[in-house]
Amino acid sequence: AIDISKLRGQSGVITIDPGFKNTGSTTSAITFLDGEKGILRYRGYSIEDLAEKSNFLEVSFLLIYGHLPSKEEYTRFVESITKHTLVHEDVKKILEGFPSTAHPMGVLSSLVCAQTAFYPESLDPNRSSDEVDMSIIRLIAKMPTFAAWSYKNQIGQPVNYPDNKQNYASNFLKMMFANPAEQYEVDPVVANALDKLLILHADHEQNCSTATVRVVGSSHASMYASISAGINALWGPLHGGANQAVIEMLENIKQDGGDTKKWMAKAKDKNDPFRLMGFGHRVYKNFDPRAKIIKKAADDVLEKLGVKDPVLDIAKGLEEEALRDPYFVERKLYPNVDFYSGIIYRALGIPTDMFTVMFAMGRLPGWIAQWKEMRENKEPIGRPRQVYTGANERPYVGMSDR
Ligand code: ACO
Repeated sequence: AIDISKLRGQSGVITIDPGFKNTGSTTSAITFLDGEKGILRYRGYSIEDLAEKSNFLEVSFLLIYGHLPSKEEYTRFVESITKHTLVHEDVKKILEGFPSTAHPMGVLSSLVCAQTAFYPESLDPNRSSDEVDMSIIRLIAKMPTFAAWSYKNQIGQPVNYPDNKQNYASNFLKMMFANPAEQYEVDPVVANALDKLLILHADHEQNCSTATVRVVGSSHASMYASISAGINALWGPLHGGANQAVIEMLENIKQDGGDTKKWMAKAKDKNDPFRLMGFGHRVYKNFDPRAKIIKKAADDVLEKLGVKDPVLDIAKGLEEEALRDPYFVERKLYPNVDFYSGIIYRALGIPTDMFTVMFAMGRLPGWIAQWKEMRENKEPIGRPRQVYTGANERPYVGMSDR
């Protein structure tokens, strides 16, 4: 293993590696990923095992503290989270300041950053580990509240307060969908599918938003500020927006008459820039292990809810055709996790521009674990170098001479 502290202060040749495709920014003991073999493990445990046997809060503890919690640790963790789901009443005033046109991701990152005002002690970079633990609990506890409230703001409905009798996923669903005037029962199949999705998104090593969280935190900015920055990084369509692109593509195919064969041909035509959204992956070159798991959950949810949606029928059609089409088979282009997550979110009635918010809720424990690891390893401030390509030295020209 590389000891980062021994590398401190060393400098040498500057490498240019746009997108950091071959540059490791850190060592990390959190997530192992092998794209060739389709392996994803959190702290050594396979994603398959965790998705089947664990739950999101247990996985959160595992990612953040490095081991599966004992019964006592788990109970204490869940109880603390449940106790902190309410947010300061003044958060509602901040929320009310946003027009309903505000994108929920912008609202989410603002509300998370605003926690620095309610918990100013979080700004102290020398806080004890117990105090850091409080920020961890507060963030995980309040994230579903912020997420659901960002949606309620958008649709102009009064917010729902958390229901602490529910589990993590069910509480979120209730805050999202309950209308105060009506009874609302959370369907356990739906809550279970959502919990699985959160597990599958919980960490993915040094992706754009995680690297952002680490770099912002490396300046000793607070955990809330760092995670808020991570939410903004995730917001971009090249990162968290892929599942939204899947549903938009399916909508387009539907509006065009639903002819999947025609769109498959477009995707294969090298003179046409169109690609089948939700197929292929930069890192996973055989299969996306998360997609296998979530496909099953998607099937369960669609069957249980008896969803009849032509857009989802198109998705099924594309999936079946692609899996037997030589073009896709030869290039190992399989549906990725975003293909199915978009389908599930749509079946659950989650609007398209909330998809990235769902991703952020899932990725939160990974961001926290990575922030904590970076601080505990006493990593230096992230400060990449550059190769300057601008003008050579030149004399200043006064305004009248330009
Ligand atoms: N539809 C049609 N053809 C495709 C697709 C696709 N979705 N993806 C790749 N190909 C083809 C390419 O045209 C190329 O063909 P060629 O060898 O004949 O030139 C071959 O497959 C290899 O593709 P690359 O672009 O080299 O693969 P790369 O690893 O660079 O791209 C990526 C991976 C970006 C995910 C790509 O597969 C893609 O654009 N997919 C659609 C978008 C998508 O679903 N993104 C979400 C990814 S998951 C996530 O980010 C969480």
